[in-house]
Amino acid sequence: MKVIQVRHGGGEYPVYVGQGLLGMTSVIERHLSGRILLVSDPNVARLYLDRLRPSLKNFQNKRRLILPDGEQHKTVESWQRIIDELVALKAQRDATVLALGGGVIGDMAGFAAACYMRGIRVVQMPTTLLAQVDASVGGKTGVNHARGKNLIGAFHAPNAVIVDLDTLSTLDERDYRAGLAEVVKYGAIRDSGFFAWLEAHAEGLNARIPQTLEEAVFQSVRNKAEVVAADEKESGQRALLNFGHTFGHALETATSYEVWRHGEAVAIGMVLATRLSEFLGRVEAGTCDRLVDLLRRLHLPTALPQDQDPDQLLRLMRLDKKNRADQIRLILLDAIGKASVVPCPADDIREVLNP
Ligand code: NAD
Ligand code: GLY
Repeated sequence: MKVIQVRHGGGEYPVYVGQGLLGMTSVIERHLSGRILLVSDPNVARLYLDRLRPSLKNFQNKRRLILPDGEQHKTVESWQRIIDELVALKAQRDATVLALGGGVIGDMAGFAAACYMRGIRVVQMPTTLLAQVDASVGGKTGVNHARGKNLIGAFHAPNAVIVDLDTLSTLDERDYRAGLAEVVKYGAIRDSGFFAWLEAHAEGLNARIPQTLEEAVFQSVRNKAEVVAADEKESGQRALLNFGHTFGHALETATSYEVWRHGEAVAIGMVLATRLSEFLGRVEAGTCDRLVDLLRRLHLPTALPQDQDPDQLLRLMRLDKKNRADQIRLILLDAIGKASVVPCPADDIREVLNP
């Protein structure tokens, strides 16, 4: 097991990364206090709830809430159900919310913990690769509004993050690969050594070899921890974590969230952002080919579908939260391992959107 300490405004918390952690009572118990509310979804509960039972047996006052699975349920109504359970549990200020699941469960449970009695403890137990390398670390919590993703939320740091790599063995192939896109992102924006390591270990990642996975998750969490420690509330470098996301979100929205996994859309977005970086002469020629090659080896998509309307994507990109004074601001590469926030004219962006 490896441990990374994440510093934040209110203190610090550990992220444990290893195998068999859901069954490791000594690790889990030390982060629980008061009454316990476990929140999960039906898929994850069926697979992993039993492994947690020994760690919860010493806590008399506990409840569990299994919320329906899927992004469409990441709503104020589901958040309300978590709050209702905390009230029914008579949870006090020392209570702990235990979030067992992917990013949807983690974000909602974290947001309920942020709001109940103005903030109680939350322990994140992420079970998807995306949640392990991104969503569970850094304290962003929230739910969707009918008019937009993650429009309602709060920063609320977890008390601990417990990453059991064994859970990745049951993850659906597309969800697994979508998580790999975020892993590649860390190498691309701030860690050229890690990018080269990913190139050397693509086959191990495809085969989900435990030691390879442990290193990939550990290096991703280390990178994320460094970014959020430096800029917890996203006033500066945390925005770099959005590499590929402005293009990606536009593509997800244009296809009503029904075609692409988030990580797949981000993979395409990272390629477009790198192509634009090359077009603008910010990055060495051939950088985009290098990124495309790695993403293809990880079986991720690297191009927009031919029938995607560039004007629609551009319209959607204008709605991005990073924009200022009507200018689209993108994360572009200066090299593999170095990125910047850059205001970009629409005509330049159109160059890479046209098929
Ligand atoms: P998800 O939580 O919907 O999980 C995907 C699917 O995998 C679900 O059907 C789930 O039941 C299933 N699943 C989970 N773990 C499993 C396992 N071990 N084995 C088998 N099936 C399993 O999706 P996600 O990709 O984990 O998370 C996406 C969410 O994360 C989005 O809502 C996004 O906004 C959020 N997010 C948040 C942050 C943040 O910083 N807070 C960062 C990135 C993404
Ligand atoms: N997933 C982007 C962030 O945590 O800032």
